Amino acid sequence: MPQGVRKILATSALPYANGPLHLGHILGYIQTDIWVRFQKMRGHECIYICGSDSHGTPIMIQAEKLGLKPEVMVEQIRKEHEADFAGFLIEFDNYYTTHSPENKALAETIFSRHVEKGNIVKHTIKQAFDPEKNMFLPDRFIKGECPKCGAKDQYGDSCEVCGATYAPTELKNAYSTLSGAKPIEKESEHYFFKLQNYEKLLHDWTRNGHLQEEVTNKLDEWFKAGLKEWDISRDSPYFGFQIPGESDKYFYVWLDAPIGYMASFKNLCAKREGLDFNEYWGKDSQVELYHFIGKDIIYFHALFWPAILSGADFRTPTAIFANGFLTIDGQKMSKSRGTFIKARTYLNNLQPEYLRYYFAAKLSSRTEDLDINFDDFTQRVNSDLVGKYVNIASRCASFLNNNFGGVLSSTCAEPALYEEFVTAGDSIAEKFDTLEYSQAIRQIMALADRANQYIDEKKPWTAAKDPARQQEVQDICSMGINLFRVLSIYLKAVLPQTAKNVETFLDIAPLTWNDRLKPLLSHTIKTFQPLTKRLDKKEIDAMKEAAQQDFSTEAKPLAIEQTASTIEPIKETISIDDFAKIDLRIAKILHAEHVEGAEKLLRLELDIGSEKRQIFAGIKSAFAPEDLIGKFTVVVANLAPRQMRFGESQGMMIVASGAGKDLWLVSPAEGATPGMRVK
Ligand code: 2FM
Ligand code: ZN
Repeated sequence: MPQGVRKILATSALPYANGPLHLGHILGYIQTDIWVRFQKMRGHECIYICGSDSHGTPIMIQAEKLGLKPEVMVEQIRKEHEADFAGFLIEFDNYYTTHSPENKALAETIFSRHVEKGNIVKHTIKQAFDPEKNMFLPDRFIKGECPKCGAKDQYGDSCEVCGATYAPTELKNAYSTLSGAKPIEKESEHYFFKLQNYEKLLHDWTRNGHLQEEVTNKLDEWFKAGLKEWDISRDSPYFGFQIPGESDKYFYVWLDAPIGYMASFKNLCAKREGLDFNEYWGKDSQVELYHFIGKDIIYFHALFWPAILSGADFRTPTAIFANGFLTIDGQKMSKSRGTFIKARTYLNNLQPEYLRYYFAAKLSSRTEDLDINFDDFTQRVNSDLVGKYVNIASRCASFLNNNFGGVLSSTCAEPALYEEFVTAGDSIAEKFDTLEYSQAIRQIMALADRANQYIDEKKPWTAAKDPARQQEVQDICSMGINLFRVLSIYLKAVLPQTAKNVETFLDIAPLTWNDRLKPLLSHTIKTFQPLTKRLDKKEIDAMKEAAQQDFSTEAKPLAIEQTASTIEPIKETISIDDFAKIDLRIAKILHAEHVEGAEKLLRLELDIGSEKRQIFAGIKSAFAPEDLIGKFTVVVANLAPRQMRFGESQGMMIVASGAGKDLWLVSPAEGATPGMRVK
């Protein structure tokens, strides 16, 4: 471990600003936050940077669905994410966005440096194109039948049924998930980064202690396959930064996303005195730079990123720490089982520190997955936090508060025991520093057991009954409080709110790691207030129930969609003549059914007075077909028929929507009959 005050910059992966955070996200941020808080307590200068990953096709599409400008949506979601992080006591030094002037400038600088070095080449490639949406389709927006097993509705890269992997062009009956149209192949010129120019640098870098061993081994597979050129451009329409000198080409989101770490830091430099961007990011930087990420994005961080940085004359990371995925009750999070838990849903039901503690008690420095088992969760919180740790203070405080005016003894009753607690701090610190949190927690809880054992043996409650043994009572309880204080130091990075409450209770300044060296003597503490409460299984059940509700058919819309400000802005005006062209008619829904293979569509048969019509409407998320039959609604009757993959759609149904998934049928007042014109 480097000596003296370390200068550290830590980052967590920038979450996409297109939907709510869930507990799977929160795992990585809690891991980083604990580490950063620990480094700060040790007196190091540690800065924690994050922000929204705001670009890319999925963000553009999501904004379009919500009827919002992408800039508006990402800003709104950025705020929601910030609130969720704060709820979990995750404290960034700066939380910014990749859609920022700093990021644009840095991305352009980095790009132009690579152009100068001859690392960027252009090729014309063929890609899937949606002729209706008029846009190129990323693989994830193409579905079709698996070329191997024929399973329907499989994504463009792999089959969830048989596990086969393939190119999207191999899918049978492929369709665009955006429009239902059959994708065509279209040529376009793209920019490529010649990753292979950095083969030697990366080969060395990935083996020189910057990565976890299993990550290095995983990357070996890529080296064996040979490094390939990386496509760093995307065609319009795209939400991102335009490539300099191009009018309809943009940087691929994964180019500017990690540059967002630098941009967020640069933004902090403008807000905080004494921070020098070059000291942190310059080629010869001595600052330690750590990226905490999920194991799914190792490739971008451990191969592209060091090459991009180094080739653009910036420093490379000191290390990358990848964490595993979160499972719940041994399985992938599931919406129907109520185990797909949004960050906000958790916070509405349970205390953040329960989760921080549980994650800490299970995290290691490896990339293995972490499972939440809620019985184990309840048991650990209650037995460790309430039964062991807080119990020490509650057992001792009342004697001191009631009989000694809250004053602690002037001497330490058991110096050897106190010393044992202090010494353990070195090994606990090493465990936190090396991300072996579960081992740190195990040691801390063993000390808590030791402190409780001390109180059990000394029985202050017996001595308290004897007027001649009052000094003894004060000494034992003061000792207990001092042991509790040391444990509070060790747990502070994990339980920052509890630590604050402890500081108030003990009437002391914010605890630092070295405060453990000396006990509190002849010091007056405040009245003890309960520091945490037992977790009741009912609270877990309520959270699971709420999680299930989040995704039920009558679900409340996602977090973004609950915000009043997500009412769609009124778009540009049309003339009265334009309006007159729209033939709106009252229609009766004669029949409604699911469309096999369609994710969002229902097939409706409507009576519009003069004739019957078939309409495919993207309303499956909001309505069960049987609930629609017999209802009256409004349709655009003169919309040109559209050939869809599933058949011809002969008109458009009008529904009301907020910014969310919920839809409302627009129904006429009683008495209206099919075919009536709506004007
Ligand atoms: O995978 C993701 O969720 C990305 N938004 C992470 C980006 S990390 C960094 F590169 F910005
Ligand atoms: Zn298959």
